[in-house]
Amino acid sequence: MINPETIQTVIETARIEEVVSDFVSLKKRGANLWGNCPFHNEKTPSFSVSPAKGIFKCFGCGKAGTAVGFVMEHEKLTFPEAIRYLAHKYNIEVAEEKQTDEQIQAVNERESLMQVSAFAQKYFSVQLLQTDEGKSVGLSYFREREITDESIAKFQLGYCNSSWDDFTKHALAEGYKLEFLDKTGLTIVKPDEKKQFDRFRGRVMFPIQNLTGRVIGFGGRIMSSDKTKAKYINSPESEIYNKSHTLYGIFQAKNAIVSSNNCFLVEGYTDVISLHQAGIHNVVASSGTSLTHDQIKLIRRFTPNITILYDGDFAGIKASFRGIDMILEQGMNVRIVLFPDGEDPDSFARKHRSQEVIDFIDKEASDFITFKTNLLLSETGKDPIKKANLIKEIVHSITLIPDKIVRTVYIRECSSILNIEEQVLNTEVNKLLRQKVLKENHLDPQTIPEPEQDQIQTEPEKQKEENDAEGQEREIIRLLLTYGNDDIFFEHEDEFKQIEQIPVKVALFIVNDLSKDEITFENPVYQFIYEAYLKALNEETFPDKLFFLNHNDTTVSSTAVELLFTKYEVTASGWEKNNIFVKEESDRLKVVVEHSLLAMKARKVEHMLDELQQKLKIETDGDEMLMLLQQFQALKSISMQIQAEQLGRVITK
Ligand code: CTP
Ligand code: MN
Repeated sequence: MINPETIQTVIETARIEEVVSDFVSLKKRGANLWGNCPFHNEKTPSFSVSPAKGIFKCFGCGKAGTAVGFVMEHEKLTFPEAIRYLAHKYNIEVAEEKQTDEQIQAVNERESLMQVSAFAQKYFSVQLLQTDEGKSVGLSYFREREITDESIAKFQLGYCNSSWDDFTKHALAEGYKLEFLDKTGLTIVKPDEKKQFDRFRGRVMFPIQNLTGRVIGFGGRIMSSDKTKAKYINSPESEIYNKSHTLYGIFQAKNAIVSSNNCFLVEGYTDVISLHQAGIHNVVASSGTSLTHDQIKLIRRFTPNITILYDGDFAGIKASFRGIDMILEQGMNVRIVLFPDGEDPDSFARKHRSQEVIDFIDKEASDFITFKTNLLLSETGKDPIKKANLIKEIVHSITLIPDKIVRTVYIRECSSILNIEEQVLNTEVNKLLRQKVLKENHLDPQTIPEPEQDQIQTEPEKQKEENDAEGQEREIIRLLLTYGNDDIFFEHEDEFKQIEQIPVKVALFIVNDLSKDEITFENPVYQFIYEAYLKALNEETFPDKLFFLNHNDTTVSSTAVELLFTKYEVTASGWEKNNIFVKEESDRLKVVVEHSLLAMKARKVEHMLDELQQKLKIETDGDEMLMLLQQFQALKSISMQIQAEQLGRVITK
């Protein structure tokens, strides 16, 4: 157990901003520092650190705490582990209180695995630098590869000698438990034969460090040219080593990644080390595996920019496209550098001076979409089917980019490379985007129309539609003015199953119906008249026609004159279509009113649906699109309701 004084000293010494900035890039704004929260996915900083108060707080996910709390949460450590971690960071000696056997037993497994790994690293280091075998085999290999002493120290490189169990014996003699040697994979234990031997015997050792520099695993390269054995072997997964969460070199690179605001991604250990030697420090390796989501997240904490350095292997590059799509999806900017045939970053860096390497990368880097387009294009030639597939591929990648502006830029770029109209690519991207939004939100694609080809509305059609709109509005106002205070009758079945006729004023019925759907009139005079009725909704009587005929606003009075005294013509839209032939209008007053209302509402809804569809065609922002689609669905169901009502009311003479 750590004694209380040590705990006190650690808590007093640890500065929250120093502790946090080992993991999060912070920028000062006002009294506090801000960065992207490491505990949830975000692209704009809502994570704040207050040096004065000694605490962090995320306004996005709500996590908050002290320096110790941060380390516990972030590194998934227990309280004593976090104290030990901070003590190590600040060079504070940890005074232990006498521990019982049980307490010793209880020392966290993770810590034990870290400790045995740290021991192994030191042991391999000594082997490399101080033993005959290490020097003649391991060190001379590194020399031959032009790996400097500085790099050997910086990356803590080592050598595991070729005896069966030299390392394991030493570790056991130092008191490290076989259990942990087994769990880290440093020792291979054969249970039945009760035999143990060193996993990495006869290999040069590349320790894999976590973000804080602690050793969590190893890669070992074989020295013999025995083709039956793997060139590289790695530590197995353990409590402390999770391959998909780890990037080789992240500890040495993180500051340079922040300051250059870019991260180079390479394939392996030797690429990382050679680039460091060329003065390029912002480089990490995914170590053999294809890039994972968690690795991207790890980089995302430090920069939104990734540059992938490829050796010239065609098949390998194509295989990696899926992984790159994943990076795009995280809203990161991906650039690609292709090395000349047969060269990897390691070999290239060794053949060229450091400035040449830097210039080469600078000059060759192209954004991923452009790179992918060009690469695929070079394969398709003039084959139209292949080209169509290529467009699908590219469109797919572009669709993954969350930022609308970035997408627009790429669409433009690809349109010029592929010699395809921008609008065509836009339509394709929107189609995919729509599918994605629908799927993510579990919306039924049946109720959402496919985006059609742009239709250019001809002038006469547009004119007709406007005439319709005007005619429908005029008809409602005419009914209000002429019959507003008349009754129409609704049948009602009373408790004795007797049918009775309930009278309702026409004005009340119209105003009720329109106001519940929040319908307004486009013609301002009609709107004014409608509002006069709307105001009277709760009063005994509705306005009389005389009120409008004598109105001192002449546009109102002349409209009233026109509507009340012009001989009625059956011209309003939808009437004949719906088989309504009006002879004696007042006889059919109820039917006429209902039909007029439905016709106007139907057109309004169709008009809004049209507008939404136009917006949907050009909308490229996922959130906006979702909103529009939801509005669309709601309106569509209203429209269907109206149509059903219209059908139900069709009357033949
Ligand atoms: N690598 C790996 N596992 C393998 C092969 C390669 O993890 N089976 C990684 C290593 O990290 C290595 C990088 O890929 O640093 C480059 O691979 P390669 O060039 O094959 O390794 P070198 O050690 O450079 O071998 P050579 O001397 O033959 O070039
Ligand atoms: Mn190589």
